[in-house]
Amino acid sequence: MNDAFLRACRREPADRIPVWFMRQAGRCLPEYRELRAQHEMFDVMASAELTALVTQQPVKRFGVDAAVIFSDIVAPLSAAGIDVKLVADVGPVFANPVRTAADVHALPRLADPSSSMAGLLGGIKQVAETDTVPVIGFCGGPFTLASYLVEGGPSREYAKTKALMLGAPDVWNALMEALTDIAATSLLAQIDAGASAIQIFDSWVGALDPDTYRRYAMPATHAVLEAVATRGVPRIVFGVSTGELLPLFAEAGADVVGVDWRVPLDLARARVGPHVAVQGNLDPAVCLAGWPAVQAEAQRVIDAAGSSPGHVFNLGWGVLPATDPDVLTQLVDWVHQQQPPTESM
Ligand code: CP3
Repeated sequence: MNDAFLRACRREPADRIPVWFMRQAGRCLPEYRELRAQHEMFDVMASAELTALVTQQPVKRFGVDAAVIFSDIVAPLSAAGIDVKLVADVGPVFANPVRTAADVHALPRLADPSSSMAGLLGGIKQVAETDTVPVIGFCGGPFTLASYLVEGGPSREYAKTKALMLGAPDVWNALMEALTDIAATSLLAQIDAGASAIQIFDSWVGALDPDTYRRYAMPATHAVLEAVATRGVPRIVFGVSTGELLPLFAEAGADVVGVDWRVPLDLARARVGPHVAVQGNLDPAVCLAGWPAVQAEAQRVIDAAGSSPGHVFNLGWGVLPATDPDVLTQLVDWVHQQQPPTESM
């Protein structure tokens, strides 16, 4: 198996700079759109065969060094029995938003992932068995999942979420505990199915300042990371606009921090210290600007990542749907031609 990605996560020298892209499955791929014209999102997720197929599409086309399993952060909530729909051009929408202590206490747990998440786990198993590249399992961060549950859907201000967090901290803590349990159960099942790294997508936690993060969100993230620690797989934590939170991601126990494009990687490395790897951080919009711009900006990312092992090349957030897939193929080739860091730490 190509282990460049796992080596970089562990800050070991590798024979190439590894690269994968957040949201590399789906989104910009015509072969994915063709498949989705025939199958709803939840139907893809319910099928191990379709999950494996879609997960491998970007591996085959782009030549990336890792396969992120095709699913969604709300899939474990749905598997637990919570009523959530993925509405086209909107996102996850919950029939019964969670706002009170009674709502939180009524939340189900993820009792039997081997049957309720059979598509996801079977898909991981199938991709892992091909033994080409590592499979990355993932979950939503507790804050991010809570934001969908409390708001009832996507949000810009997270006003109801923050009001609950600050106004009813006991209810909030109980919600964090329920979501920690669901996320950890899901990740453990994914690792047991064959995922050899995991990522917590706490996409919206950048809405918090560092003190608030430390108090209300970090304990749950720490607990999820701790729950899988004994499995020994690299654990990545990512969120959008989280430059000020990067040191706290490291303190929470991340082995790798995902960095969006707002913070250069040399600064990110200074913030997280020498014992944590970094992942990122090309602005996904750059991929729409033509190859000369893509190459110049990718060079800047690699230069800022420095000469110590421990950089996984990625975008600073997910692939934009308008991206030309050929640009991503060219980018992977180009990154693989660059000299990887050799200096051991
Ligand atoms: O982008 C991120 O911040 C990553 C974390 C995240 C995912 N889903 C992971 C994911 C978040 C915040 C979501 C919520 C979600 N789910 C949204 C965003 C809504 C908002 O608040 O703005 C949407 C539109 C969905 C529904 C969804 N998820 C669709 C329609 C698809 C398939 C097509 C696509 O857009 O990729 C997904 C797949 C999905 N969600 C993946 C992941 C990691 C798998 C795709 C991949 O990894 O390449």
